[in-house]
Amino acid sequence: MDLILVGFMGSGKSTVGKLLAQKLDKEYFDLDELVVQRAGMSIQEIFEQSGEAGFRKIEQQCLRDTEHLSGILSTGGGTPIPENNQQILNKMGAPVVLLAASIETTLARITDSDGRPLVEQLGPSGLNKLFKQRQIAYSQVSDFQIHTDRLSPVEVTEQIMEQFQVVK
Ligand code: S3P
Repeated sequence: MDLILVGFMGSGKSTVGKLLAQKLDKEYFDLDELVVQRAGMSIQEIFEQSGEAGFRKIEQQCLRDTEHLSGILSTGGGTPIPENNQQILNKMGAPVVLLAASIETTLARITDSDGRPLVEQLGPSGLNKLFKQRQIAYSQVSDFQIHTDRLSPVEVTEQIMEQFQVVK
């Protein structure tokens, strides 16, 4: 991979990832989409049939499959949490960018979002807890972070390109 985006649900990974890929003329990979393709069912259905553990297994297989591809990869919000995944991400050698947002912005963005089983399962207080729990892993795995609360996806994309001095 050329660049990897990580961050909590609703941080804008997919939107920014697509924009970056377009601007840089690279291929775009969305780990959630790869999981859905591999499983032949939606994320919601995977959680229903095999639980979160089943989902994480497929997610890790798909992450490994991207190891030797080049392009921009948007991960899922939970991808950087398992230690094995952190090792896979490090091994890829691509810059890892954390898209960070406040809990308030995050909750506003993901409440009522379809297709995110954890949002339904956990509710606002559970999501708040998960958000806090994940911060250490997010910063450990990332090389650079951008606070997105007051930025549009285009501005976030431009900042990433500036940071890595890739101008197109
Ligand atoms: C998850 C985030 C989702 C998806 C799955 C689990 C998480 O991806 O991978 O529902 O554990 O935070 P997005 O961050 O793209 O919503």
